Amino acid sequence: MPAIETRNLTKTYRAYRKEAGLWGAVKGLVHREYDEIRAADGVSFSIEEGELVGFLGPNGAGKTTVLKMLSGLLNPSGGEARVLGHVPWEREDELKRQFSLLLGQKNSLWWDLPARESLELNRVIYGITPNDFKQIVGGLSELLGVTDKLNVMVRELSLGERMKMELIAALLHAPKVLFLDEPTIGLDVGSAQKVREFLKHYNAGHRIVTMLTSHYMQDIQELCHRVILIDHGRILFDGPLTTIVDRFSTHKIVAFTFEEAAVRDFTVFGEITEQTPQTVCLKVPRSSVAETCRAVLARERVTDITVQELPIEEVIRRLFQQTASER
Ligand SMILES: Nc1ncnc2c1ncn2[C@@H]1O[C@H](COP(=O)(O)OP(=O)(O)O)[C@@H](O)[C@H]1O
Ligand SMILES: [Mg+2]
Repeated sequence: MPAIETRNLTKTYRAYRKEAGLWGAVKGLVHREYDEIRAADGVSFSIEEGELVGFLGPNGAGKTTVLKMLSGLLNPSGGEARVLGHVPWEREDELKRQFSLLLGQKNSLWWDLPARESLELNRVIYGITPNDFKQIVGGLSELLGVTDKLNVMVRELSLGERMKMELIAALLHAPKVLFLDEPTIGLDVGSAQKVREFLKHYNAGHRIVTMLTSHYMQDIQELCHRVILIDHGRILFDGPLTTIVDRFSTHKIVAFTFEEAAVRDFTVFGEITEQTPQTVCLKVPRSSVAETCRAVLARERVTDITVQELPIEEVIRRLFQQTASER
């Protein structure tokens, strides 16, 4: 049995349409018109125990909506889902004890308490013994480098420190499933790196199932082998990150090094992405790599050629742009 499974999961929000002007307001009193937003539109996937899956998509794609349904915070408009065999929106206690949802844009800790006391409240809720609590908080805070911040008021923590405390709170009851929604949003480079290292380490050690959404490709590239791409509520791709380049990358970067430095014009060969007197990088369609090499070799004295893929970040950005323009 997969740890997480969804079939045709759909969520439609109703947003009331406000018409401009007084007449619009009067009409709105009589019969309200609304727009339907399909935030999740037939979402199906399945995730096995121990997987750490990146859930990627532009703003408004439906990521948070899906995670909220899987956490039982939202009822779907249609479709099915199982998390550890339970229907999440039935909100059974047995499931609640086995998963966590961390929303990077919200805080769950008490603002006016030291982090440790806020965590202590969670300890009571989950019925964790003081001994286990001490061990778990000690271990996690050590790994995250915030042991000396446990007695600081949450409101006085930096964003990075607060997020690390949120992570400890999310992992206190040793969940089997972890939903992380933008856990590195707004963090400084160092904190984001620390959080990534921690997640990698924790996932490897605990075989916890993790779904991670992030705006930062670096999070995804460092942590996730598999990604699910979503846009306008629909899944565009589900598979290994590396396959995205094979399947969707339209161009390659061909880099040439020349025997001698000189002023050369390469505009006829393709888009120039970098150029020095002795080197040039050309962005060319995948299908014309060989032809471009031949043409350059015929004209120049070349000492080295390398062919590289486009950065995955760029491929994904183009993919989303392309589907947006197809609409
Ligand atoms: N409570 C709500 N009421 C109406 N529309 C909503 C609500 N929450 C989200 N939406 C809309 O649903 C779509 C998906 O939102 P969301 O799941 O938050 O996307 P993401 O997390 O990928 O940025 C967006 O168009 C958003 O504006
Ligand atoms: Mg979101």
